[in-house]
Parts: sequence; structure tokens; C-alpha cells
Amino acid sequence: MNNYRILRYDTLESTNKKAKECAHILKDKDVILAKEQTAGRGRMGRTWISQRGADLIMSLVLKPKIPAEIVSQITLIVAMAVCDGLEKVGKNAYDREARPLIKWPNDVLISSKKVCGILTESLFMGERVGYVVVGVGVNVSSEEFHFSIEKKAGSIKTQWGLDIKIEKLLDEILKAFDKHYERFVECQGVKYLTDSYNSRLVSFNKEVFVKDRKGICRGINEKGELMVEFDDEIETICAGEIMTEAK
Ligand code: BTN
Repeated sequence: MNNYRILRYDTLESTNKKAKECAHILKDKDVILAKEQTAGRGRMGRTWISQRGADLIMSLVLKPKIPAEIVSQITLIVAMAVCDGLEKVGKNAYDREARPLIKWPNDVLISSKKVCGILTESLFMGERVGYVVVGVGVNVSSEEFHFSIEKKAGSIKTQWGLDIKIEKLLDEILKAFDKHYERFVECQGVKYLTDSYNSRLVSFNKEVFVKDRKGICRGINEKGELMVEFDDEIETICAGEIMTEAK
């Protein structure tokens, strides 16, 4: 097992909500885990729907000693840890085509279907980082999805045909995260992982749209920003800006 304290709940509105409410009494690397969420939150005010007992629903509380401007890069290392963890539990059951890939910055896909979403929420006290709550939802055994997402969503079960235990996946993700977190804090950023991250980027060297402009995705830079080439000029885009893959 790993050195994380895991606080287990049956039903919560949202593990991120709980983590933020309790952040003042939680330690770095505490994990809020729930079997079910009644008001799971996604990015941009969306809802996140998981199936009770079938999916991984967790929030990781972090209190890193890092400058505020690199906090947004934490989402990138969590996405890498989720991919590493998925590969560990998937062993060789998947081929190269079905390798977990990242849709920068928050989603993990297997064969073009979203199996994981990440929602990072932080509190800053001036220049200081109060806390970072990273919510991770992984579709593990779900085989049916809400009609609003059914074309885009998948799970480990639907994509790899594997029955994976949630606890095993959680353990592997946390082990992988630990290694990334240590290096991230040591290097004060994601510069140590740009090449391995780019090798997992769904849109690497492919056409993408950013605010209706078509460009070519050239991967992340050392600050974790996405580099997009428009008419031979590279522009960087920050997490939060809209980027879609060209069809
Ligand atoms: C997204 O893709 O929009 C992000 C989804 C994040 C969902 C997870 S599930 C655990 C944690 N608690 C929440 O309410 N949301 C995150």
C-alpha cells in the first residue's frame, strides 16, 4: 500500500466539495474517496455522473510548497499518474492503439473515449498556496452512460473488456502520482516530463481548433502550456482556453 491517508465515504454530494470544506483539517496527500456522488461536479459547471460502486470517485488534497503560478500544472501530473495507473492495472491486456492518452489538460481517453475527468480547484492566500483539491473520476466498470455523454464516454470495462477493482486502480494511481509529485516539487514544474507527456497527447502533431482558428498541436512546453502552430508561428495556450481536435 502507499503512504496516503484515505478517508472513505459511502455517499457524498461531491468529493471535491467535501475536500474543500475539510481542507483546513486535512494534510498533504489526504484522499477523499466515495462510493457515490449525488452532485458530482465537472469542469465549466457541468455535472459528473458516476455509477455507485462501479467507478472511481476521489479527491486528492495537496498542500505543496510551490509558487502559485505553477499550481495549474498539477492537473498534468495527475493525468499522467492516471495513465500510468491504468497501464499498471491493464497490464498487457491492451495493444498500442488502446494506450491511455491525454486530451490536454484534463481528460484521459482510451481509444478516443473519455474514461477519466479531472477537476482541480485551489485556494490561494496571496502568493501562498492554501490547498489544491484534485478531483478524479474514472469510469471503471460502467457500461451505460447518460445520453448527453454516451457518444464520448467509455470505461475500462468497455474499452479493455477488463474487470478491475477500484481499490487496485486507486492504489496504482496514487503510487504513480507519488513519483510525479516528488519530481514536480523538486523541479518546481513539469519540465521533467514534457517528452513523456507529449507522447501521450492525443492531438500531438495533429490539427486542432482554438477559438475557431485551425492550427497544429506541437505539444506542451516546460510550463505545461500547449503550443499550437498557426501559419508557421507558435502560440501558447493556457489551460482553460478552448481547444478541440479537428475532425
Ligand atoms: C470533467 O471532466 O469535467 C471533470 C470531472 C471530475 C469529476 C470528479 S469525480 C470526483 C471529484 N468530485 C467531483 O465532484 N468532481 C470530481
